[in-house]
Amino acid sequence: MNLEYLSGFGNEFASEALPGALPVGQNSPQKAPYGLYTELFSGTAFTMVRSEARRTWLYRIQPSANHPAFVKLERQLAGGPLGAVTPNRLRWNPLDIPSEPTDFVDGLVGMVANSGSEKPSGISIYHYCANRSMERVFFNADGELLIVPEQGRLRIATELGVLEVEPLEIVVLPRGLKFRVELLDAQARGYVAENHGAPLRLPDLGAIGSNGLANPRDFLTPVAHYEDLKKPTPLVQKFLGELWACELDHSPLNVVAWHGNNVPYKYDLRRFNTLGTVSFDHPDPSIFTVLTSPTSTHGLANLDFVIFPPRWMVAENTFRPPWFHRNLMNEYMGLIQGAYDAKAEGFLPGGASLHSCMSAHGPDGETCTKAINVELAPHKIDNTMAFMFETSQVLRPTQFALECPQLQNTYDACWASLPATFNPNRR
Ligand SMILES: [Fe+2]
Repeated sequence: MNLEYLSGFGNEFASEALPGALPVGQNSPQKAPYGLYTELFSGTAFTMVRSEARRTWLYRIQPSANHPAFVKLERQLAGGPLGAVTPNRLRWNPLDIPSEPTDFVDGLVGMVANSGSEKPSGISIYHYCANRSMERVFFNADGELLIVPEQGRLRIATELGVLEVEPLEIVVLPRGLKFRVELLDAQARGYVAENHGAPLRLPDLGAIGSNGLANPRDFLTPVAHYEDLKKPTPLVQKFLGELWACELDHSPLNVVAWHGNNVPYKYDLRRFNTLGTVSFDHPDPSIFTVLTSPTSTHGLANLDFVIFPPRWMVAENTFRPPWFHRNLMNEYMGLIQGAYDAKAEGFLPGGASLHSCMSAHGPDGETCTKAINVELAPHKIDNTMAFMFETSQVLRPTQFALECPQLQNTYDACWASLPATFNPNRR
């Protein structure tokens, strides 16, 4: 199947898999074309201001309401509840891909979260490790999902159509959207940010102007595609952190036509128009923001998705790595490929680090010494893609994240090798 996509961000898209399946001039006619049922899929409150409102009209073979009661699953999400509070800097090696059959849902492992799952707010972060396609369909009542593949291509069949993503691309699935993740390679691994707050959007560009960073036309939404299948299909939902399931006698991916702006989309991180200094000093990493979920306080993000892509470093008379810093924001970093320019070793593709509110961090000893002594010339950082999920509330690790063997117990030592260079007699 050759996939088609609609281009743009925040658009009122329209798509139909059969000609004339979309009603003309109204949303819910007495009889929808082809005997379809009409259903509204709302991503924001009805009364949200128009510029913030997200909703999509669906024309489907069976309405979603046609399902038996959900029953709590015995196998719940891995990762467990939040663990003990810690202000310490933490870093993890990549999780192992399991040898027993594991689909995307069973392969999700909770790592850190702003809040307990019974009262979701802010964001929650998972890693996923899977080795087989889902044979069930899933939706998440607790938030929007931002999936960042690190290994393995995914085919994601959703109610609104099919998306394929590979490492260096990302996909965003609105809260409540039903989907099935299929593996296009033997195994898949990556990161998921679950956004409980305002839906992700493009950041304002301010003085940058009307172009740059992630450009709207590079965001791709699938076209309508439906499954008219009468076969038993488990439907799983995550609701307040718990997995519940029921069995349908049909595929719930049965939307023949739709229109609206509450849609899944993908984006190729290689299309990010990276901006930076052409004079001196290292800009704030906010210049690398791909998507943001704002809070009601202007400039304070619930979630910023920030990337560190290949780029030229040309700053003169400048300490070029990220500076030493202590932040209000809480930073969860991952690595998709290559190496990150602030760390000489220990931060691996598939791994992660957590620097919480006001925890001091920056380049490790080896990187720092090199950066102070190197002869500066234009230099390209290449074959790399690190990223950050940054949030204004503290991220607490799960019990799993604090106890797993992948937690590095020597992370603090990477700053211990910073040499003493102060000399009051040498300016
Ligand atoms: Fe940082």
